[in-house]
This record gives sequence, C-alpha cells and structure tokens, in this order.
Amino acid sequence: MQPLPVLIDSFGRVHNNLRISVTDRCNIRCFYCMPAENVRFMERKELLTFEELERIVRVAVRLGIDKIRLTGGEPLVRKNLDRLIALLAAIPEVRDIGLTTNGILLADQAQALYDAGLRRINISLDSLTPEGFREFTRRDGFEQVLAGIDAAREAGFDPIKINAVSVRGFSEKEIVPFGHFARRTGAEVRFIEYMPLDADNAWEREKVLFAGEILQTLSDEIMPLRPVGAHEPGAPATEFEFEDGVGRIGFIASVSQPFCRSCNRMRVTADGKLRNCLFSLDETDLRELIRGGKNDDAIAEAFLKSVAAKNEGHEINTARFIQPERPMYSIGG
Ligand code: 5AD
Ligand code: SF4
Repeated sequence: MQPLPVLIDSFGRVHNNLRISVTDRCNIRCFYCMPAENVRFMERKELLTFEELERIVRVAVRLGIDKIRLTGGEPLVRKNLDRLIALLAAIPEVRDIGLTTNGILLADQAQALYDAGLRRINISLDSLTPEGFREFTRRDGFEQVLAGIDAAREAGFDPIKINAVSVRGFSEKEIVPFGHFARRTGAEVRFIEYMPLDADNAWEREKVLFAGEILQTLSDEIMPLRPVGAHEPGAPATEFEFEDGVGRIGFIASVSQPFCRSCNRMRVTADGKLRNCLFSLDETDLRELIRGGKNDDAIAEAFLKSVAAKNEGHEINTARFIQPERPMYSIGG
C-alpha cells in the first residue's frame, strides 16, 4: 500500500491521536456538559457502526494515527463496546487504546474491556462525597463509580487516571480529599479546568478554578509538589508528584495555560463528523462519505483537508470566542 502523507497542519503540528465518541448518550447529567433535561440524543441509525469506525481507524493509521481514545457521552452505555475494542486492538498500527468513562457501569464491564485489549482508563469523578457527586452530575452514582475504580484496578488497568473538572464554588472542598485519594490509591488525579462546552451556556471565566490555585492549596495543606517531566509530547496534562514521592496529580489547564501549541488530536463524533478541535466551528461528514460508497482515499483526503484547516488554537481567553454548537457530550471530551 502506498504510504500517504501524515496529518500535519499549517502550524507544523503532527497528529497521531484520534478520539472517537461512540455515543452521545449518558447515564448522568454533569452540569458542565449536559442540560438537566430534554436532551435530544442521536438516533441509533445516525451512529457509526463498529465496522464503520474500524474502517475509519484503518484509514487513519495510514496517516500516522497510532493512539485511539474512546469517549462519549458515556461510552459504556453503547452495547458491546468490548467488541469495538477488540476490532481496534487487532489493527497492528494502533499502539494504544484508551477509554474515558464516568465509571457508573464500569464494575460490570472492566474485565471484559481489559480482556478485549484496553489498557488505559480515565474515570471522571468530580467529587469525593455522594452529595458533591450529586451537585455535579444531578444524579446518584457515587458508590457505583468507586466500585468501578476498584474493579478497574482488579482487572489490571494501569494507569488509572481520575478526571475531576474544577469549577469555582464547587471544587474547592474537593482539592485536599483528592490529594489524599491520589496518595492512598496510586491513581493519578487530574484536575481539568472547566471549559465553555456546557449545554447550558452558563460558563464564565470567573467560574473556572485554576490549576495554579489548586496546586497552591495542595502544597499548603498536604505538602509541596514537584513537577515530573518527560510526559508524552502532546499530552495535555502537566504532572506533579508530592515531594515524598507518594501521589501523582495532573493539571489540564485548558483555560489558564492552553496547550494548543502541542495539540496532536483529531476527533470523530458518534454521528461520524470529523473535527480538528474541540472548539472548531465546522466539521467534515465522514459518515456521508462512507454510506455514499466513497473509497478509503476519499476518507484519507477528508482527514488531510480537515487537519490543513485547523486553527492555531482556541480563543477562550478573547472576546472573539464563539462556543461551538455541540456541547461536550456530543463532541466527546
Ligand atoms: N470542561 C472541562 N471538562 C469537561 N468534561 C466534560 N465537559 C467539560 C467541560 N465543560 C470532561 C469530563 C470528562 C472528559 C471527557 O471531559 O468530565 O472527564
Ligand atoms: Fe456524561 Fe461525561 Fe457529560 Fe458527565 S461529562 S454528562 S459523564 S458525557
């Protein structure tokens, strides 16, 4: 097979990372993502099938994609997700498959996912109390997520990372408990700055609890942290460990310290739209190409065009910022 050009954009960024949303459905309703009610979900027939997704990935690996992450909505509400993982794990160029889940259904599925070839798992958890969990998610489920984390550990997942969105007025009381949680469990806790991708359009810069503030609190209340360098290029998290070497904390400071300059990601939504950025305002319809009988070269061409059109970075911190029409649950984190 002819090697194709790689996914390099006009700022020299090489893209090797593809995030695939497998559904926009979710079993909870985090306020920074979904509306409280009346969500209009995609219909079943709008979703790419596992075979369509496999085909996209087989084309993408020819363009240099070698890392895949499955997201949602909540990916585990999609039936038989382990079958998709097995399909993707069988592609030799796919070096790494990850999953970002809210953990609610994980206790039941962890082993099957592991057996299918999944190794890396990120679990979203914004609070370490049932009440806090309910404030963030508008649902119950705290205990289920904890059971999911335990099951992931028992199944052998490594690393396990916990994603906590940090919102001013909600997250301050969670900082120290999460610090101790990281030290006790060995899971890396990553604080993600709240981004303007909520369905309610309620985001304001003032509502972001910044990474720097969290680092300071951990340092004052537990002990100082030191940076641990040499993370993968393009990885959005800046990582630290407590001075005594016990407990890792990461920060995804999308608002206070955008990492667009090293972005290596593209995204496919559950309904088959290719996006070159979380915040992009346009997208390319891969599903139409596939269902319209176009060949693999046409899909490759769509990837190349999309990456060529990628903007330098998001403009959250400027007056020019326009929030994309799709909220987080329908883009896929
Ligand atoms: N800002 C920051 N992170 C978000 N996530 C969802 N919505 C937002 C937002 N508005 C996170 C979820 C999950 C990941 C997929 O993205 O908590 O960890
Ligand atoms: Fe569901 Fe994830 Fe959105 Fe929360 S952030 S509502 S878990 S899709």
